[in-house]
Amino acid sequence: MTSVREPVVSVLLDPDWASGSLVDDVRRGFAGHPRALPPKWLYDDAGSDLFDQITRLPEYYPFVREHAILTEHAGEIASASGATTLVELGSGTSEKTRILLDAFTSTGQLECFAPVDVSEATLRAAADQIAVSYPGVQVEAVVGDFTLHLAHLPRSTVSGGRRMVAFLGGTIGNLYREERGAFLGALADTLESGDSLLLGTDLVKSADRLISAYNDSAGVTGEFVLNSLRVLNRELGADFDLDGFSYVPFWDAHMERMDLRLRAEMPQRVSIPGADLVLDLASGEEIRVEISTKFRVSNIAAELEAAGFGITRVWTDEDGDFALTLATKP
Ligand code: AVJ
Repeated sequence: MTSVREPVVSVLLDPDWASGSLVDDVRRGFAGHPRALPPKWLYDDAGSDLFDQITRLPEYYPFVREHAILTEHAGEIASASGATTLVELGSGTSEKTRILLDAFTSTGQLECFAPVDVSEATLRAAADQIAVSYPGVQVEAVVGDFTLHLAHLPRSTVSGGRRMVAFLGGTIGNLYREERGAFLGALADTLESGDSLLLGTDLVKSADRLISAYNDSAGVTGEFVLNSLRVLNRELGADFDLDGFSYVPFWDAHMERMDLRLRAEMPQRVSIPGADLVLDLASGEEIRVEISTKFRVSNIAAELEAAGFGITRVWTDEDGDFALTLATKP
């Protein structure tokens, strides 16, 4: 019997958010039009938990669709990538990763699993569970921001073999086009020839289905988006009155993205001492908390190729709701 290897957890993120990039993000984001907050601040422990609940909502189709594609094709993905190290960016609870881990371990190829996430508690719990479930696999977790810490992605120390970086869930859609280009380019630069990226992208579909996926009847998504203000209250001593805001998601058909905002229902003066800021919001003024871009298969390939990847294979579900693309560094 192979014994369980203790997970190694590296913390690259400043544990005190307020002293780090949160302040810069808040100053920059609240100075712009619309006022905006980068979505990574949604994922404190409470936010990660709310997102986990979102994945179980009947309206939130991306989770089940991607899950189905992975279940059907994980074996092909493992053999096509030939990877001995599996890195997962924004891994959360790593639930879907288990499908990949099952496939990569059944071929005996996997030596190292490296989940990367901003939420330390979620990551530690997932790392411990995975280490127990997959003895013989070294778990090297990284608490970090995948837009900043790409150069620190672990690789297997045993064979130095190929890596596959999984970036699932459609999270790349949270980045603006320029950010996606910079991120994919930086990722291609840190990977070596033969390494690959498995990219999950949500696809363009009817506005009705998109809106209901982000405006669920149980109100969980609204709570998740509102939680961003709770983060600012806690981390920066802000005094946002959460009752003064309503959640307004809309489909931007021109940009082909969901735009998730909070609207001030009355004029509000908010003080944010940790960022040395006083924010005056007019009645009806909105704060963008997240965009979730939807893609077309041809555009995904073009963006990946522009970043320096070659397209190895694309899988979609039967209804064409979601795509998984395996892209390889030449
Ligand atoms: C996991 C970031 C891709 O954009 O669909 C779900 C986050 N936000 N409901 C998405 C989210 C609101 C989700 N991502």
